[in-house]
Amino acid sequence: MRLTAIEGSPSLEIVNLVLQRRAKGEKIVSLAVGDPSFSTPKEIIDAAYESMKSGEVHYTSSYGIPELREAIKNKVRKKNRIQAEIENTIFLTTKLSVYAVLVALLEEARGGEFEVLTPDPGYFYSEPIVLSGGTPVRYRLGSEDFSLDLEEIKRKSTNKTRAIFVNSPSNPTSRVHSKDELEGLYEFCQKNRIFIISDEAYEDLVYGKEHVSVGSFEESQPDIVVSLFSLSKSYSMTGWRAGYVVANERVVHLINKFLEHTVTCFPPFIQRASAFALKNCENIIASFREQYERRRNLTMQRIKEIEGLEVNHIEGAFYAFPKFNLHKMNSIELARNMLEREGVAVLPGLAFGPAGEGHIRISFSGSIDEIEEGLTRVKTFFSKEHMLAS
Ligand SMILES: Cc1ncc(COP(=O)(O)O)c(C=O)c1O
Repeated sequence: MRLTAIEGSPSLEIVNLVLQRRAKGEKIVSLAVGDPSFSTPKEIIDAAYESMKSGEVHYTSSYGIPELREAIKNKVRKKNRIQAEIENTIFLTTKLSVYAVLVALLEEARGGEFEVLTPDPGYFYSEPIVLSGGTPVRYRLGSEDFSLDLEEIKRKSTNKTRAIFVNSPSNPTSRVHSKDELEGLYEFCQKNRIFIISDEAYEDLVYGKEHVSVGSFEESQPDIVVSLFSLSKSYSMTGWRAGYVVANERVVHLINKFLEHTVTCFPPFIQRASAFALKNCENIIASFREQYERRRNLTMQRIKEIEGLEVNHIEGAFYAFPKFNLHKMNSIELARNMLEREGVAVLPGLAFGPAGEGHIRISFSGSIDEIEEGLTRVKTFFSKEHMLAS
């Protein structure tokens, strides 16, 4: 029943459409998906290979191997200023962690009611909330700059609200929330004993702003903040399915139980390579970030040149989320028509919630050539639409 109640993933739907069209020999440019064009750095691949060759091909603890948990602890202490111990860490794919955390926090439901607040526009948290047996409640981000609106969050919170998702840097808005915004949210949640699920998948991709981890506000070990991290975007490892959660020991223990009864554990060689990445590859992250910043500048410049699109200031992640002003189409029709007529794929803003309508999401995780070609096609689409309208 629950699976029939939710939609499939909008980005994977577009990926499939793009693949179908390419299989027919059409030259489609995809600006739809957030998947880095870079390969995983060689030293990380070598670490996985060495691990496999040395015989690390068996089950491990569901929490993760000790070297990796130690590396996670040290990384979040140093970089995120979260006062974690090893017991506060667990290794699992970030996307799965969204669901696993919800299943763990379901224990906190009051009288069987489990409401979870999720940003609008925001990443696809509503579906896992429904799958876990909870009720998603959307809170709107500031209409002009997608900031956190604490009054809106308070209005949407009830005594059944057990957790609030926050995502900074944000997919799709690119907004990086300030320390003040996050501190306000933390104080409210601490007072009302509401968990914050802080999705920091894009922590390393910020342009001229500082990334602040909500978990750094906790006085000592993690308590109400559950922090989700990913190696996917920082190290170009989307296919490895590598991420981790830092949370209070009880939540980590419940996630562990969830893993024991589902995937058992993640491949040991992927864990070993992830530990290697966390310990040794800060310089690589910096070089990727620089290259994304160049792509981001190019993307903003090109979008500014398109009549009919209003570029937003891109603060983080690798997405532009411009407003469009074609009144006769909604964002789904627009994305469909662009793919159909010009062979360029973007995601419709509506996929990210009702407040995303009127926007499209353009990913600049691809190469400079793809960005140039894709945005030329977007421009052609808008020029033709404007000519028709005039
Ligand atoms: C905001 C956000 N959170 C989580 C994820 C999932 O990350 P992963 O692919 O590492 O599981 C993504 C992936 O695009 C994302 O954009």
